[in-house]
Amino acid sequence: MTDVLTPVLSANWGDDRAWRLTNYERRGGYQGLRKALSSSPSEVVSLVKDANLRGRGGAGFPTGLKWSFVPKNNPNPTYLVVNADESEPGTCKDVPLMMASPHTLVEGVIISSYAIRANTAFIYVRGEVLHVVRRMQQAVREAYSAGYAGRNVLGTGYDLEIVVHAGAGAYICGEETALLDSLEGRRGQPRLRPPFPAVAGLYASPTVINNVESIASVPSILKNGKNWFASMGTEKSKGFTIYSLSGHVKRPGQFEAPMGITLRELIELSGGIREGHELKFFTPGGSSTPMLTSEHLDTPLDYESMAAAGSMLGTKALQVFDDTTSVVRTTLRFVEFYKHESCGKCTPCREGSWWLVQLLMKLEAGKGSEGDVDKMLDLCDNIGGKAFCALADGAVACVTSAVKYFRDEFEAGYHTPAWELFPYEKSALFAVKASTDGAGNEKVGANA
Ligand SMILES: Cc1cc2nc3c(=O)[nH]c(=O)nc-3n(C[C@H](O)[C@H](O)[C@H](O)COP(=O)(O)O)c2cc1C
Ligand code: SF4
Repeated sequence: MTDVLTPVLSANWGDDRAWRLTNYERRGGYQGLRKALSSSPSEVVSLVKDANLRGRGGAGFPTGLKWSFVPKNNPNPTYLVVNADESEPGTCKDVPLMMASPHTLVEGVIISSYAIRANTAFIYVRGEVLHVVRRMQQAVREAYSAGYAGRNVLGTGYDLEIVVHAGAGAYICGEETALLDSLEGRRGQPRLRPPFPAVAGLYASPTVINNVESIASVPSILKNGKNWFASMGTEKSKGFTIYSLSGHVKRPGQFEAPMGITLRELIELSGGIREGHELKFFTPGGSSTPMLTSEHLDTPLDYESMAAAGSMLGTKALQVFDDTTSVVRTTLRFVEFYKHESCGKCTPCREGSWWLVQLLMKLEAGKGSEGDVDKMLDLCDNIGGKAFCALADGAVACVTSAVKYFRDEFEAGYHTPAWELFPYEKSALFAVKASTDGAGNEKVGANA
């Protein structure tokens, strides 16, 4: 068994009431902030830049570099916005982080705001997770009481207001510019860029938007130094990160490890694939990243290796599917999600995702027609890269990658229902009625 786990963000998750300020401080919490406040804001930016921290929200953009884009001579206030809207299917790292150790994020927010010279920070939390909203609010209150936030932080003359904002439950509001519109009280839809948020973001003012995990990683870099952080990971993907393992593994959960660990190692850590089964396919970073198969078990899970393999590291949400799973059914479920969450602003995504669902439903029911698979790929060609934001690219990535590896299974949909080839009862993690489609609905298309 591999012993490569590197708990940093998750080190205190098992502690008694780890979310309370006193328990966080007992483990050295807020020491990173004290160090930051004894340096200049630009020194903090340089440190994070040199550590090579890359954004953990999906795209892997260098965090310190993003901070350095904030103009110094803009007369408007600068804002920090934390993207805590975590909604990508399979992604479940930010919510446990905020529940278990909200002060890791709050400390990161204060350091990062100081670095970009912001006096107001927003934490935009997915609205459905009310328990997380409450926990964050409580942690922010504790930080104010202890003098870490509010007026004159720790007597340094630096002021910071922190606002915890609950979203209304739309996946698109995780897209950073839709998030800004939502925060301003509008309908959450992506904005045209340029201008980029660093120049004209929230209330048309310079704004840095970062993922929860990116910001939560900052205190440990301040505390332990850039060399410590950069000593972990691969050449271009530095540090540790949280990998979320779900699906057909014995012990799913969060595994904090250096960048570049492989799925084989993670599966070993999780006790292996379900007894008597083997890996069929997986998503490396949530349902919007192209699927990979068992031939990629030893590919390092870092940004460069995933791109070279034709996929993306995304949010490092590894959804593992064994040989009992219908790839047609899985793809349909994914695309149904994107169809539902499409904000409707542009035609290729709004209409195209609907048509993809129609074709996939036919294929799942074994009622497809010769040529439907090519029609589906043609549709994907007219959606991917031709829509307004990356939601549409995510919607087609699962289709094109699934057809690339499992075309025969899609073509079997011209005559045989997926539920005959892959009965739900065999792949389901929980008991399901054989007459339903695994989501509790009558088998779609069965009587069509
Ligand atoms: C449809 C869509 C949904 C997204 N959802 C999230 C999300 O829930 N959380 C997140 O941090 N980033 C999400 N992103 C990425 C953000 O737009 C943005 O890149 C990220 O918050 C930047 O943070 P980082 O640089 O720290 O990774 C989403 C992007 C798209 C296109
Ligand atoms: S691609 Fe989809 S989610 Fe993005 S703006 Fe267009 S309709 Fe909205």
